[in-house]
Amino acid sequence: MDRSATTRVPRLRGSEGYPWRMAPVIRPAEIGDAASLGKVHVAAWQWAYRGLMPDEVLDSLRPEARARAWKSWLGGHDGGFQAWVAEVDGEVIGFASSGLPVDDDLPDDSIELLAIYLLEPYLHTGVGSCLLEAAEASWIDEGRQLGILWVLEGNTGTIEFYERHGWNHDGGKRDYPVGPNTTMPVLRYTKKLLG
Ligand SMILES: CC(C)(COP(=O)(O)OP(=O)(O)OC[C@H]1O[C@@H](n2cnc3c(N)ncnc32)[C@H](O)[C@@H]1OP(=O)(O)O)[C@@H](O)C(=O)NCCC(=O)NCCS
Repeated sequence: MDRSATTRVPRLRGSEGYPWRMAPVIRPAEIGDAASLGKVHVAAWQWAYRGLMPDEVLDSLRPEARARAWKSWLGGHDGGFQAWVAEVDGEVIGFASSGLPVDDDLPDDSIELLAIYLLEPYLHTGVGSCLLEAAEASWIDEGRQLGILWVLEGNTGTIEFYERHGWNHDGGKRDYPVGPNTTMPVLRYTKKLLG
């Protein structure tokens, strides 16, 4: 792991009432994180999307299956994939990931935020902002000009989070498959990274 890319979360909104003893750390994900990422990924979908997505889709998610996918993504089988984890007291409690967008109407130097999720007790702690800032800093270092992401229509808290970080809906909308025979509308947001 590139330890130079590890950052201690610089600001916490006070320490009282927050579920950690040591300051959270943001670092690049490693292949050995795959099992933890599988668990966090499923747990985060299940709290974040309950009421937004059908229960049968959420209840069918399996951490082992997500862990296998993470192993493949982190194993370099998916060109351009990068991920960061947030760790508290040695446990992975959240992550963000990015990759090359598939949309054909974007400039070549675009990058897509594929996912950003926290376990529920860590919501509103500032850790999500630190993950997003780590991803954006890395993209800027690589010379990426435009960030894009897709977010579920109706995921209002997360949309507010993105807008606070300077992301804007660019009018893009499509149906995203979330399970067998189930699609949901997602909105495209973009952010100019350089210039
Ligand atoms: C998006 C996410 C990573 C942000 O992490 P976070 O640590 O809560 O974010 P921060 O504390 O840095 O910023 C929180 C701000 O974002 C907005 N926000 C984020 N999630 C929110 C929610 N569920 N409800 C309302 N506002 C929310 C608010 O403006 C909030 O400000 P506040 O805490 O003063 O109310 C986290 O909320 C999360 O995991 N959400 C569910 C997963 C998800 O939808 N991921 C996006 C997939 S496209």
